[in-house]
Amino acid sequence: MENFISFVFFLCFIILLHTQWRKKAKTRRKEPPGPWKLPIIGNLHQLSASSQQPTHRVLRELVKKYGSQGMMKLQIGEINAVVVSSPAVAKELIRNHDLTFATKWQSLASKTLFYNDFGVVFSPYGDYWRQLRKVYSTELLNAKNVRSFSSIRHDEIHSLLADLHSSSGQLVNFTHRIFLLMSSIICKSAFGKVFTGREEFLEQIKEISEFLGGFDFADVFPSWKVLHGLCGNKKRIMKTRRKVDGIIENIIKEHREKVESGDCLIDVLITQMDSGGLKLPITHDTIKGVIVEIFAAGSDTSSTATVWAMSEMMKNPRVLAKAQAEVREAFRGKEKLEEEDMEELAYLKSVVKETLRFHPPLPMLVPKECMEETMVCGYTIPLKSKILINVWAMGRDPQYWEDPESFIPERFEKSSIDFMGNHFEFLPFGGGRRICPGLGFGFANALSPLAHLLFHFDWKLPSGVTADTLDMTEMNGIAVARKNDLFLIPTPIHASS
Ligand code: HEM
Repeated sequence: MENFISFVFFLCFIILLHTQWRKKAKTRRKEPPGPWKLPIIGNLHQLSASSQQPTHRVLRELVKKYGSQGMMKLQIGEINAVVVSSPAVAKELIRNHDLTFATKWQSLASKTLFYNDFGVVFSPYGDYWRQLRKVYSTELLNAKNVRSFSSIRHDEIHSLLADLHSSSGQLVNFTHRIFLLMSSIICKSAFGKVFTGREEFLEQIKEISEFLGGFDFADVFPSWKVLHGLCGNKKRIMKTRRKVDGIIENIIKEHREKVESGDCLIDVLITQMDSGGLKLPITHDTIKGVIVEIFAAGSDTSSTATVWAMSEMMKNPRVLAKAQAEVREAFRGKEKLEEEDMEELAYLKSVVKETLRFHPPLPMLVPKECMEETMVCGYTIPLKSKILINVWAMGRDPQYWEDPESFIPERFEKSSIDFMGNHFEFLPFGGGRRICPGLGFGFANALSPLAHLLFHFDWKLPSGVTADTLDMTEMNGIAVARKNDLFLIPTPIHASS
């Protein structure tokens, strides 16, 4: 009997302990706050109600209103999304929990358009990603290659200058010229030459960016499989993939049919696929995924930054005059600028950095996924949440930046803030393990064309457009470029170069 009573006491004690532990765990498990939700769709209506505005702007306002410490949780259909727009929280994610957030959130668009995420950008964190990222650093973005790319850049810029000389005094589509320039630099650097169908591919990039930046029905209601073909963008995404696929197959075919094997990234990958030399095999889809992502990640981002930089200079004639005076003073008496000369252009570099603060080409980076339930700044981030780090909002946070809504390159002149992922209020290339491996190349691709364009030409807005009325509307997508192309009138100040 005594034994029985002790057993009952012991059982009660265990039950009490368990209840206390569960109570504590429940209070400890506090998810970030967010706006009120509707059944089934959650917060979807708040995002679509403001669909006239780009997502990074809508999310900044929602975080301000409903978030805490610059962090907010949304329920979008069946998925959780955590939005961060505070440099302090971003620091916590990147410094202390980088591994937990090192994988990418995969969507219908990323899987369809990037060949089951076989490239680096959307690839899940793990050995495959590590291996391919290593191939990029050794075969594409190593110091020797990046140096040799400067001669490709130099030649391409000079053919753009010649082209602009022949359009002297006429209205030119600046956006289009810059996208052609950048895609030529990327194609020649990574694929050995400009491929057939480049312009058609460029046209698809806008669509690809829009699909990647949105919330597709299949992504937010993954369990409603029967409706995936009927609702959302599946058909449009498949159509884009078919167009891009034809061009890519042709690129691979041309590389295979070449008499001599070259040493561009595609040749290296084809050789590795054929020889099976890598631990995790490279497949035909790996090569296709790599082609789309290098073309998109390499040329779209740098073009977007360059066009925004020029747009801001046209909107701020004081900045344009100062940058132009610096370039012309630094190279007085020279007919041509050399790539090494760019180092001297402290003010123009600040213009590019300010552009990356004010208009980061990927304003919410590439969405990540939480690999393990984790506490961040006192809040629980649920497993598998989509993580959106709003670097656009962080670059305009008044706690970190003075007069953040104005374009003032001077703020970088005496500042030690860089974009290498250590200053969390300025993360245009991301940070941590998934930081952009092309940041040096990308920065040079924006700086050098701007220096040449300011050195060789004076620039005017089209008749009837003034600095005050210049349209600066942003498009919506994973990459945020100008919605409408920038048109300008170049007037050469030197004889044809
Ligand atoms: C101004 C130009 C550029 C900007 C602003 C930019 C920005 C970014 C950003 C924000 C990310 C995502 C980082 C994250 O999610 O944490 C990224 C990733 C990436 N970028 Fe860039 N990028 C630029 C140029 C380039 C160039 C020129 C290349 C290569 C030719 C490149 C290749 C990549 C790759 C492969 C990744 C994926 C890295 C990974 O997930 O491990 N980027 N870039």
